[in-house]
Amino acid sequence: MSDVLYFNGRFTTTDERVLRVEDRGFLFGDAVYEVFKFLGKRPVFLRNHWWRLANGLKAIEIRNPWDEQSFADTMRDLLARTEFDDGIVYIEVSRGEGERAHFYADDMTPTAVAFSRRFKFPDAAKKARGIRLMSDEDLRWKHCDVKSVNLLANALSKKKAQRAGADEVLLIDRSTGGDIVRECGSSSFFIVKDGRVVTHPLDCHILPGVTRDHVIALAGDRVEEREIRLDELDGADEIFITSTTLGVMPVYQIDDGAKLTAGPVTLELQRRLDEEERR
Ligand code: PDD
Repeated sequence: MSDVLYFNGRFTTTDERVLRVEDRGFLFGDAVYEVFKFLGKRPVFLRNHWWRLANGLKAIEIRNPWDEQSFADTMRDLLARTEFDDGIVYIEVSRGEGERAHFYADDMTPTAVAFSRRFKFPDAAKKARGIRLMSDEDLRWKHCDVKSVNLLANALSKKKAQRAGADEVLLIDRSTGGDIVRECGSSSFFIVKDGRVVTHPLDCHILPGVTRDHVIALAGDRVEEREIRLDELDGADEIFITSTTLGVMPVYQIDDGAKLTAGPVTLELQRRLDEEERR
């Protein structure tokens, strides 16, 4: 079955080939994207996704095709046309079409697409057991706060992790000489140590995760936003990652390190996030 597709102001299905080969999203990765979740046809944390999209477009000087209201209306319209109740919506806005040249015109008309997809969110057993990470060097650019579609470094590292039997990759920045843990290939990273919930601060090295934000609010004054060194992971009481599609997901092992079971702080935050998503 084909999915509903929004393309530049009209609705069609993903069967239609809408993009031109000279779209800069395709040629240059000159685009930003978002992924939000919907449950019972209701978008989860839509406002946060809107803000991140708007900030990303502004940062790379792409004209925003929406304002907040028209964005929300478009997404609700998309969900109303979608045949299933739970899933994800992928949104991408590129700088638009133009003759292939690095220099882009200042007044380009952006290309905007959004489509809904069924998605198998982790079940209770997986959420209790958790996942395994493999560490790899972070080879991404220095603007990871922009959710750009330049995901080649992430994709190559994630594939390497998959081949090694891991579920996700943990990206380690060796460029500063200190082996700093940044985040995962497509999720944010947290450790719990002596009751403190520690995660990387918001800067150019990580994506400002929507789930990360909500988890930080739930953890309250237990949170410490600071860089984490690779050698700190051995002493962590609990480790978990967060993303739109995984929620709060315990980590039971990194590389061949000691095995962990999902701890009380992780499980509390997981439960409270799930509740918030359904509200
Ligand atoms: N990935 N860090 C990176 C590099 C990500 O790609 C993502 C999301 C996150 C978590 O962000 P959020 O909580 O807003 O989903 C962190 C999405 C899901 C993806 O690329 O499919």
